[in-house]
Amino acid sequence: MARRKIVAGNWKMNLKLDEAKTLAASIIEQSAKISGVEKIIFPAFPFLQKVGELIAGRADMSTGAQNCSEYEKGAYTGEVGAGMIKSLGAGYVLLGHSERRQYFSENAEQLRAKIKQSLENNLQIVFCFGEHLKERENDQHFATVKQQLVEVLNAYPKDKTNSLVLAYEPVWAIGTGLTASPAQAQEMHAFVRSVLGEVLGAEIASQIPILYGGSCNAQNAKELFAGADVDGGLIGGASLKAEDFCTIMSSFT
Ligand code: PGA
Repeated sequence: MARRKIVAGNWKMNLKLDEAKTLAASIIEQSAKISGVEKIIFPAFPFLQKVGELIAGRADMSTGAQNCSEYEKGAYTGEVGAGMIKSLGAGYVLLGHSERRQYFSENAEQLRAKIKQSLENNLQIVFCFGEHLKERENDQHFATVKQQLVEVLNAYPKDKTNSLVLAYEPVWAIGTGLTASPAQAQEMHAFVRSVLGEVLGAEIASQIPILYGGSCNAQNAKELFAGADVDGGLIGGASLKAEDFCTIMSSFT
């Protein structure tokens, strides 16, 4: 079976409600004829419901939250639970983004709890990982990525792997304008698939989409997506421009 192709937009902490509605409407209109690729928008929490309403009826599109609480519910002021996200009509949650690991000290134990909450609420997961520049310079990028995968996926239920999407995002490429070369991306994605094979078995590994993220844009997406193990992209900055984001969706050959 061919693997799913996915292009996801991570809007991060950007936009006001009106801007979010306008951007979502433009993306919806401009992507209407782009087939063969799943599209996901990850708006900030307050816009999830509205963006979800705008895309309703589009089988190829869904929304996702950029994070969820590791707890189910209760006295956790300021937190947003996976069940709440699901109740807004979202299909996905983004977990393990390097900005959350870096600025909010998210660790593997929390990520495992967030995965559990997401799966219990029937949300699909886009799980992010990637090395820092120092690690690549010291030739530790494969070891780092393997560690980030194994510490979380060892506990991942094998019967829920169709709810799992991975996103390799080298930290040095996020928001910097520096992109992994197509060869670097493919090399790491092939390695990730081999790690998946060790942890989950070769058959499951062959079906899990692995997205690339980190300064992926309308100019470089085609080359990046040409890699045999690159199944799409997780797009930050370029997802805030409808035309660029939709060009990226059309970048599969
Ligand atoms: P970028 O962000 O495309 O702006 O580099 C990607 C991400 O952080 O998901």
